[in-house]
Amino acid sequence: MFNKLIAATLPYMPKKLVWIFSKRYIAGETIADAVRESKKLNDQGIKVTVDLLGEFIKNLDEATENKEAYLEIIETFEANKIDGNYSVKPTFFGLLLDEEVCYQNIRTVVAKAAEYNNFVRIDMEDSPCVDKEIKIFRRLKKEFPQNVGLVVQAYLKRTLDDLNNMMDMQNGVSKLNYRLCKGIYVEPEEIAYKKYEEINEHFLEDLDFMLKNDVYPGIATHDKPLVDGAYKLIEKYNVPKDKYEFQMLYGVTPELRKSIVEKGHTMRVYVPFGKDWFGYSTRRLKENPKMASLIIKALFNR
Ligand code: FDA
Repeated sequence: MFNKLIAATLPYMPKKLVWIFSKRYIAGETIADAVRESKKLNDQGIKVTVDLLGEFIKNLDEATENKEAYLEIIETFEANKIDGNYSVKPTFFGLLLDEEVCYQNIRTVVAKAAEYNNFVRIDMEDSPCVDKEIKIFRRLKKEFPQNVGLVVQAYLKRTLDDLNNMMDMQNGVSKLNYRLCKGIYVEPEEIAYKKYEEINEHFLEDLDFMLKNDVYPGIATHDKPLVDGAYKLIEKYNVPKDKYEFQMLYGVTPELRKSIVEKGHTMRVYVPFGKDWFGYSTRRLKENPKMASLIIKALFNR
């Protein structure tokens, strides 16, 4: 109850206060910050996926700027030999303004990554975007079979059907590569599972589907029971270590992350950076059960 109250008031809190808690969730504001933090993770044997923070855009000029920014990120990361790939949010490239322009923008980014034999992951946004994002993924996958992947959300009731439908894209040359996560957006219960147990059950069902069908999953969770469930499935299907990876968000559950790395599994951390950190970090803070007590402590200890 109290946590919910704090969560609701977060967007109205002074930015400086929110920053105190946000800094653990973002690499910084500049590309140099992202490179530095990525190098630190690489030194711990952890791969990264880099995300430039930003919320919904208002016009296509902003989409062009975002595309240019990603091209610069790719050049910089490749020049610095970072062991990592790139994550993009289609709305950031104009998805809700002009789907074709959005496709062309993302295509340019994927083509740039492909020049370096690298990879771009299309993040999944809220439910009105899902069909559009699958469509863009399909088009890109045809042209860049090795260089593009998608995110799927276990809380959506449609996800297993989507996974089945997209199998037509998989063949000997072109494997499918998904990030499987629970899903972060508030969706209506007609289309989304709401209960923790239900979401977890479908997460493992989706993962089972991927492992059985030789699809490469990025198992993106900080939830210990899901990590344990994933271990069991990996063992059940005897999946080699190069056929899956675990993924976590920067700054979240570092101890669990370390234990996964120590067992020899591949780990990739999502490294968000940029000036628009506020929206992203308030979402992370809302997920953090310890947030309320931390914020109260900070209010009294300034
Ligand atoms: P859950 O929320 O149940 O958390 C499990 C436990 O993890 C908590 O009990 C707590 O201990 C810890 N924890 C979780 N969040 C925390 C936090 N912020 N601070 C401290 N502890 C925390 N979603 C989406 O809709 N589209 C996308 O493209 C992506 N992309 C993505 C990439 C990667 C690499 C990850 C890890 C996640 C995403 N997500 C996402 C977000 C995802 O859908 C989900 O909301 C979060 O990962 C939280 O879900 P968990 O599986 O961690 O479980």
